[in-house]
Amino acid sequence: MRLNKYIASAGICSRRKADELIAAGNVKINGAVMREMGYDVEEGDRVVVNGRLIEGEGEKVYVAVNKPKGYITSMDDDRDRATVAELVSDIPERLFPVGRLDYNTTGLLLMTNDGDLAYRLTHPKHEVFKTYVALVSGIVSDARLARLRKGVDIGGFVTSPARVKIVRQNQRSTVVEISIREGKNRQVRKMFKAVGNTVLELERVAIGDVRLGHMQQGHYRKLTRREIEYLKGL
Ligand code: URA
Repeated sequence: MRLNKYIASAGICSRRKADELIAAGNVKINGAVMREMGYDVEEGDRVVVNGRLIEGEGEKVYVAVNKPKGYITSMDDDRDRATVAELVSDIPERLFPVGRLDYNTTGLLLMTNDGDLAYRLTHPKHEVFKTYVALVSGIVSDARLARLRKGVDIGGFVTSPARVKIVRQNQRSTVVEISIREGKNRQVRKMFKAVGNTVLELERVAIGDVRLGHMQQGHYRKLTRREIEYLKGL
């Protein structure tokens, strides 16, 4: 197995991060620094990352978390804010988040120790549709809906076509369901800002066909075998 994949599948980090660790000279094979990401790890090789011996493939764990507001999507925080790692702290494996949700965004976040799957799901080349329910200020006119669907400039980047539909609307606010493929920083908030609405609440309800369903905020569930196979097949 290629070295970067071997490190990622041991569940210590994503494949991208593994590439960085290799390039930085933090990986040793049988005592010697190895900088070739494509090195073919053989049976009996001792792979040491940051001084720690890596044991081949560990058990893979895949969970769906309902992230509450006020948690950062990171494993630790230098400002001591609550992290999503705390939501799965009773799981012995070290799970890391697949992609990111803003501090104030709630909803579906996948967490896993399968670095290879995490890498593939977040790679810009094959990003999957992610669906959000947004409560926004004011009315979203047909013209605005059309712009959101077609793509809007969110500051040096034009979004690709989105699926957008109104769930309900009154004079003061609108609930919109929006599905986007990319994952630019604060993308949904920026898209609405670009057309003149402010996002007041934002919840992610699905990643591809994996749905949040009825789960309390702060809780998690293990993904079903079917969901795992589905994600691997994307
Ligand atoms: N878009 C946003 O604006 N925020 C998120 O957390 C996710 C998508």
